[in-house]
Amino acid sequence: MKTLPDDFIFGGATAAYQCEGATHEGGKGPVAWDAFLEKQGRFLAEPASDFYHKYPIDLELCEKFGVNGIRLSIAWSRIFPEGTGEVNKEGVRYYHEVLSEAKKRNVKVFVTLHHFDTPKALFDEGDFLNRQTIDAFVEYAKFCFEEFKEVEYWSTFNEIYPIATNQYLNGTFPPGITYDLKKVMTCLHNMLYAHARAVNVFKDGGYKGQIGVVHSLETKYPASMSDEDIHAAFLDDALSIRMLLDGTFKGRYSKETLSALKEISEENGFEIHFPEADFVEMEKAKDRNDYLGINHYQSHFVKAYHGESRIHHNGTGDKGTSAYAVKGIGERIYKEGLPRTDWDWLIYPKGLYDLLIRIQTDYPNYKAIYITENGMGYKDEFVDGKIYDEPRIDYVKQYMEALADAIADGVNVKGYFLWSLMDVFSWSNGYNKRYGLFYVDFDTQKRYPKQSAYWYQGLARTKEIRD
Ligand code: BG6
Repeated sequence: MKTLPDDFIFGGATAAYQCEGATHEGGKGPVAWDAFLEKQGRFLAEPASDFYHKYPIDLELCEKFGVNGIRLSIAWSRIFPEGTGEVNKEGVRYYHEVLSEAKKRNVKVFVTLHHFDTPKALFDEGDFLNRQTIDAFVEYAKFCFEEFKEVEYWSTFNEIYPIATNQYLNGTFPPGITYDLKKVMTCLHNMLYAHARAVNVFKDGGYKGQIGVVHSLETKYPASMSDEDIHAAFLDDALSIRMLLDGTFKGRYSKETLSALKEISEENGFEIHFPEADFVEMEKAKDRNDYLGINHYQSHFVKAYHGESRIHHNGTGDKGTSAYAVKGIGERIYKEGLPRTDWDWLIYPKGLYDLLIRIQTDYPNYKAIYITENGMGYKDEFVDGKIYDEPRIDYVKQYMEALADAIADGVNVKGYFLWSLMDVFSWSNGYNKRYGLFYVDFDTQKRYPKQSAYWYQGLARTKEIRD
């Protein structure tokens, strides 16, 4: 039986907009999501899991079930309703209260500064395509470092790559733009640069605690051993993984990354240049990341593709309805015989092992890794007050084993945060795609431990990965 280290963090992950609700309460300013969801009319982020009011209950559950870490994010627009300028004292007080409650419950807190929720005032001016947003973000980060001295672990951004692609490639996030790879690359670079600036402010300011970034890293494999497919996987990997890790740990993009970006941009009819001065800041930050947060749910098999971009997002859980082919990059295909979730997310734990070994080999200046998200979206059934979610337990167990193997092979992984602590609202899938250890009845806001919560409790106690 495989085991995990004694001092390992067994956490649960959340994000402000997905769990807090209270979108117009406590002086919170608007975000682009509010109007975007209203317009779509499928679901709202209100009341979500009402964490805004129920956080004492959720933190009590953490303590009771041995969940000794929580990932949460600060909603930027609760602190600065307009993104910059006047501070909302009520928002500041709220997060102090949450942090102090977590301390009382012996739950370590990992705080993300930006989890998909740029304040509307800045979003409307171009979000991170507009370099003024970078300055505003750095100011907001600095304010938080000064104010929330009790925070031990900071993370600048959650998932730069999904932000860029969901906003500008597949259009599932506001502003809903599709197939604009130039915007994707610009957004990625600007956010990597913003991360570097925030890290440098943190380190130059001598603040206590640790700082890192959370990247979504999903391993890419060629669909076949043909030269064309191998190249397609290389291109997909370059944009979704290598660019992020190079930017974070090398302070500039490697030759391989740049050649892939050039090829993708040429095929899509644009040129891309990044300001040289940005790399000075990025190089200064490259050895100052205290940890890397990895969100990892799935891997992709990639096939050469030369047609027009064609993406269909499976946001309903009807298996087999997703499609993902991008001009100049490749097509992500289903691989015969490999299991996937109802949302077509491939279950392939080896992808996590391979990713961790690769980071250790290619980016040896990483200091520590936390798996900041992993978990399985599932249409849980509530039967007589009980939720039997064996498929989720099986999923998490397999990924934990891959993790244990990587640790045994020398990768410094110090914790794992299951997405999600309790059921939350899912950005482009609504409320029936549940991930939580704790089932939330969204009408009554009552919490019920799922079978997986008891399983996780046993794991946290024994550190043994059992069935
Ligand atoms: C990650 C995000 O991409 O995956 C979370 O950080 C998100 O915010 C999670 O909810 C699961 O994705 P989804 O689309 O199934 O909710």
